[in-house]
Amino acid sequence: MFPPNSTTTLFAVVIVLAGGIPLTEQYFYNGIKSGLEPDLKHSLFLDRIGQCRWQPDLAVFLADMRIVQRNHTHYVLSGVLRVRRNITQATTGTVSIEICQNTTHCRPFVDPPVNVGDVCRFLDEQRNSSLGDVLGRSVPPLECPFTKGLHRINDALVDYKPFRYFSPHVSKFWRIDFVGESDRKRVLCMRIELFVYSWEDMLPRY
Ligand SMILES: *[C@@H]1O[C@H](CO)[C@@H](O)[C@H](O)[C@H]1NC(C)=O
Ligand SMILES: *[C@@H]1O[C@H](CO)[C@@H](O)[C@H](O)[C@H]1NC(C)=O
Ligand SMILES: *[C@@H]1O[C@H](CO)[C@@H](O)[C@H](O)[C@H]1NC(C)=O
Ligand SMILES: *[C@@H]1O[C@H](CO)[C@@H](O)[C@H](O)[C@H]1NC(C)=O
Repeated sequence: MFPPNSTTTLFAVVIVLAGGIPLTEQYFYNGIKSGLEPDLKHSLFLDRIGQCRWQPDLAVFLADMRIVQRNHTHYVLSGVLRVRRNITQATTGTVSIEICQNTTHCRPFVDPPVNVGDVCRFLDEQRNSSLGDVLGRSVPPLECPFTKGLHRINDALVDYKPFRYFSPHVSKFWRIDFVGESDRKRVLCMRIELFVYSWEDMLPRY
């Protein structure tokens, strides 16, 4: 029922109690505004973006990204992506989405995972999307086919749009796994974990 970080919750409660600041202005400062337009009534907490923890040795490794809330509409992401060897064969990707009760009890939300086909083509199609914006901040640019090297993603701005369909009325805790295979071997596995709350959930309880 409560946001992931109890310090943040406490902070919000203190502000609300101390402030006389209208609630409608305040609750969004926890997390960023999310949901479907026009009423962005959900609060999104991006909790983790990084390598699947049980697969640290794949050809592609994404260190846990730094996620900083810029304001009540945007996060800023930074991180390092390491490609450990040249990946010469085509890489095909799947996306799976799970809804969770807690960190150990999750179940698939879409089953089977969605096949996104060729990862390079997929990334190319994402050029004008939020994902494209994030990858566009990579230095040096992430190019296909992936070749051995280190890429830094510097201060990529992300808003709610890639996450707008994650509804707190379905689940408050979501997991998205992005997996890639090349030459019948898994080469990448990245996980995004997020919490989403409706504004009713964010109201302090007395
Ligand atoms: C939040 O920060 C981003 C990036 O600096 C900016 O584009 C956006 O307008 C800001 N939003 C608000 C509501 O201030
Ligand atoms: C990896 O690819 C790059 C760019 O094509 C090339 O310069 C390099 O020699 C390749 N490395 C190996 C180990 O094949
Ligand atoms: C997660 O939820 C399940 C089902 O409600 C429960 O049995 C389990 O003990 C919970 N695990 C943790 C770590 O809270
Ligand atoms: C991205 O936007 C540019 C400019 O609007 C356009 O020329 C290009 O075709 C778009 N690319 C994709 C993959 O949609």
